[in-house]
Order: sequence, then structure tokens, then C-alpha cells
Amino acid sequence: MAERAGIILAAGIGKRMKSALPKVMHPLAGRPILGHVIAAMREAGVTRIVVVRSRKADSVRDYAASLGAESVIQDPPLGTGHAAACARDVLVNFSGQLLVNNGDMPLVTGKTLSAAFVAAEHTGLAIVAFRPADAAEYGRVICDKTGLLDRIVETKDASEEERAVTLCNAGSVVADADSFFRWSAKLENNNAQGEFYLTDVPSIAKREGVRCAVYEADAVEVMGMNTRAELAETEAHIQKRLRTGALQNGAGMTAPDTVFLSFDTLLEADVQVGPYVVFGPGVTVRSGAEIRAFSHLEGCTIERGAVVGPYARLRPGAVIEEDVRIGNFVEVKNSRVEKGAKANHLAYLGDARVGAGANIGAGTIACNYDGFDKHKTEIGAGAFIGSNAALVAPVTIEDGAVVGAGSVITEDVASDALAVTRAEQREVPGWAAKFRARKKAEKGKRG
Ligand code: UD1
Ligand code: CA
Repeated sequence: MAERAGIILAAGIGKRMKSALPKVMHPLAGRPILGHVIAAMREAGVTRIVVVRSRKADSVRDYAASLGAESVIQDPPLGTGHAAACARDVLVNFSGQLLVNNGDMPLVTGKTLSAAFVAAEHTGLAIVAFRPADAAEYGRVICDKTGLLDRIVETKDASEEERAVTLCNAGSVVADADSFFRWSAKLENNNAQGEFYLTDVPSIAKREGVRCAVYEADAVEVMGMNTRAELAETEAHIQKRLRTGALQNGAGMTAPDTVFLSFDTLLEADVQVGPYVVFGPGVTVRSGAEIRAFSHLEGCTIERGAVVGPYARLRPGAVIEEDVRIGNFVEVKNSRVEKGAKANHLAYLGDARVGAGANIGAGTIACNYDGFDKHKTEIGAGAFIGSNAALVAPVTIEDGAVVGAGSVITEDVASDALAVTRAEQREVPGWAAKFRARKKAEKGKRG
């Protein structure tokens, strides 16, 4: 198989999003749109990826680099064909098959992109087409009688007859790299938008006698994404796909439509998820664990048999070991809660280790932050932290120790010891009755 490279077009201003954020950096299912397109290209066996970005979009460059992709600047943006041509210098030593793809196509799968590569094998050139419910502003794909492409016409340049065509251009082109750059160098901008259109490449190839194959893809997969409303619609599609995948893998969901997943959420078989649970990126839930309603999780691991929620919040670095119980309004960040420990209600565990079988009372706070640095709280196995304790880190509560309710713990507590810091209780016999009698009398005098 010839080596495969990809160009992702992402230098457009994305005007219709009305956002300072580059369009391809808008998040979908826990990662930017660009990440979805890059992942699909990788799945299709693309080894080199070049992202075309605008001068200002450093975030695009950095994010692309974090995924092993190169980037080039297109300045000013003179159209999709011009954008693709901007990648020429970077790919100068590449002579395999090249896929040029719009950046705003996050639902595309590796399978479809692979099929586009295969479609180009016979003629040397292929595009991806689809039939959207509403052809709207998409380029129209005009085929000849043999099913090969005659031309693509942008809506703004199309006659009424051409606009009636329902087959539309998805925004993917495959050709060998040398031919592609030769053709794209010949593009002209004498059209309604005064732009160098990628969609004119097949017409230029035709002049050399190279015909273009048309691969028809699933309409949802390749739909473009230009507005906030379309972004929300795309999120809905991707959520549906992720939920279906999770259910197929054996995760149980009481109300799948209310569960929000990230691209990398890993729910093993026999995980049970209640209604209204949100999974941010980086969550793994092992078999037999249960995530109850209204919980919010990101960057965490939940081991077998643990029960989380309802109303729990697990933040990055939370590791919830086997059979642990994390109850309502408990927040855990960058902490390991070891086997069988319990924090059943209203607690904050940040930068902490909670030993096996320890019990964290309601209202316990690991005071991990002094306004400058974060500090660690160590709670030993089998320790019991009474309600409303403030554990001022750095601090260690050794195995089996007990902390009295309401204590503010600033010193380490030895194994099996009791630490209490609250003032001793004082009792004044009859005080309340006398107090009430006096108050009643005063009120009576005032009338
Ligand atoms: C484009 C296609 C259209 C197709 C549609 C599918 C062209 C001329 N038109 O239209 O046939 O039906 O996609 O969604 O190709 N970009 C650049 N530099 C530029 C212009 C655009 O990098 O100078 C990038 C954008 O960031 C975007 C992609 O190219 O990711 C497509 O651009 P966009 O303006 O969305 O094209 P459409 O008008 O949707
Ligand atoms: Ca578009």
C-alpha cells in the first residue's frame, strides 16, 4: 500500500461560529473537532498529517503538534484550494497518496476515509459525496452517465438546474501527492466568491485526461459544521454514537440519552450508569462499578465494585479503588481512595491518600491549598475521620487513628490515637429555662 498523507484545512475564519476560538478547536465529546478528524485519518492509515491554519491560531498549531501532526500557515485565506496548496512545501518529499480534508468534518470515520483512498485507486482521483436532507450551501456534485465526476459547482456559482442536484460535496479529495499539487497550482479564482476552490481540482485533472471517482458516504458522517447550532447537532450525533458503543460493550444505562460521554470514555461490561451522568475526558470505569445519577467525572479511574454518587464529582487524578463508596456531594481530586474506604457525604478530598477501609465523615475537608502551593494529606488504613474535620495539609493521620468530629488537624496523628481539637463541652444546668423566662418578661413589659 502506498504511503498515505493528509492535509486538514483549518485556516478559514469560521465567521459563522461568531467565536474568537478557531472553529476546529471547539470541543466535541471532550476534545477539539480537529482531534476527531486527525483520529479518523490515523484510523485510515494516514502517517503524515499537515494542518493548514491561520496565522493567529497558535492553539491549532500546538494541539496538532500534541497529536503528532505538522502545521502550516495560510495567510491570507484565499480559499480551500489555496489552503491545500500551502502544504506543498511541507510535503515536498512525500510522493504517496494524499487526502485533503475539510477540518470541519468531525463525524467522519476512518472507514469512510479509507474507502475514499480505495476509490481513488482506479482513476487516480476521488472525492467524497453525500446526500444531505438539505443541500443548502454545499457544493453540488454533477456526475456523468458512467457515475464519474463531471464537475463540482459551488452553490453561489450554480444555475437553478445545478442547485436542484441533491448529491453534494463532502470536502474530501484523494490523489497522488505530485499530481494533486500540480493541479492545485493551476487553480483560478474567477468565481462568485473570488476564491481558489479545492472543488475545481477535478476539472483541472480532467484536462489532463484524469477522471474523478465519486465515493458516496453516509450523510451524517460527512456533514459540514459551520454554526453553533450545527456544532450542537454534531455533539448530539457523536453522543448517540458513543452511547451506542458503550451499550454494545455491555455497559448498563438507565437513561442513555441523559448520559454524556467523551471520545475516550471507557466503561467496561457490567458497569451501571444512572441518569444524568457526565463523563469528561480520561475516565475509565471497571466492570461492576456503579455511577449513580447526577455525577460528574473527568480524568479518573473507578475500580470494580465501587459506587459513586449520586451527585459526586471526580476530578483529574482521582483513583477510586475496589469497593470504595463515594457518596453525594463528595469531590475528589488528585487523590487515591483505597480499597473499601468510604466518603459517603459532603467531603472534599484533594491531593490526598485515603487508606483501605478508612471512613471519611460528612463535612471532612482536606485543606490542600494555602493560596500558593498544594499539599498532601495522608490518611492511613482503617482511620476514622469524624464529621466536619478540617485536615490542614501537609498532614498525616496514621493507620487506625480517630479524629474527633469538628477538629482542625494541623499536626500528624499517630497510629490508633485519638486527636480532638475542639474546646471541651461546658454545661450550665437550667440556663436555657432561665433565659427564656427573662426574655418573655422583657417582651411583656414592652407590650
Ligand atoms: C466547502 C466546499 C463545498 C462543500 C463544503 C462541505 C469549497 C470551495 N467548497 O464549502 O463544496 O460542500 O465545504 O462542508 O471547497 N479553509 C481554509 N482556508 C480558506 C478557506 C477555508 O483553510 O481559505 C478551511 C476552513 O477552515 C474549513 C474548510 O476549509 O475547515 C472548508 O471551508 P468552509 O468555508 O467551511 O467551506 P464551505 O463553504 O463549507
Ligand atoms: Ca464548511
